Amino acid sequence: MTIDLEPLPFAEDALEPIISARSVQAHRVLEARYVDAVNRMAGPRYVRRGVKTLDDVVAAARHLEGQALWEQASQAWNHRFWWEGLRAPWRSKLPPMIRTELMISFKHMGPFVSSAQAKARRLFGSGWLWLAKIEGRLQWVAAENAARPVRWPVLVVDVWEHAYWLDYAAESVYGPSSRELFVEAVLNNLVNWEVVEERLKRLL
Ligand SMILES: [Fe+2]
Repeated sequence: MTIDLEPLPFAEDALEPIISARSVQAHRVLEARYVDAVNRMAGPRYVRRGVKTLDDVVAAARHLEGQALWEQASQAWNHRFWWEGLRAPWRSKLPPMIRTELMISFKHMGPFVSSAQAKARRLFGSGWLWLAKIEGRLQWVAAENAARPVRWPVLVVDVWEHAYWLDYAAESVYGPSSRELFVEAVLNNLVNWEVVEERLKRLL
């Protein structure tokens, strides 16, 4: 079994000026390390169990109590999911289905963004912000470190420090934190709503 570092669905500088190429590279260095660690750590015990994909490793590591492997595999999985949900800024409109879902769940884009920022503010240390449909409504769930507490997420925002420090630290001396500024900029400019819509449709 070998897990590959999948190519980005866009160029390294495609997310500028919201996320710089340097920040994308910072993620990618870590992501490559996670993938390498999975390939190193998932030994014969995993292969015997028919573990073939990254999803399999995440599930099996939990089952086999492989905490260290689960952390690495989850971080690799989370990064794949994060990249898939992004696109170059200012190139797509909200699909009608997404518009309806956001209206039902948040009334409009303002609370959608501000509730994510509030979760990001309260998350102590590194982690991820997951958007998922819970009890019929889209909701943000913050999770520490590598955790993915929702079974079927439709979007994620990486809020580890490497995600925002290079691009947003200078703006945060007074006012909102660099993490909150980053979350706002990503949600307003980089979400690939077509991908989110596809993920939502799979839940129907
Ligand atoms: Fe990252």
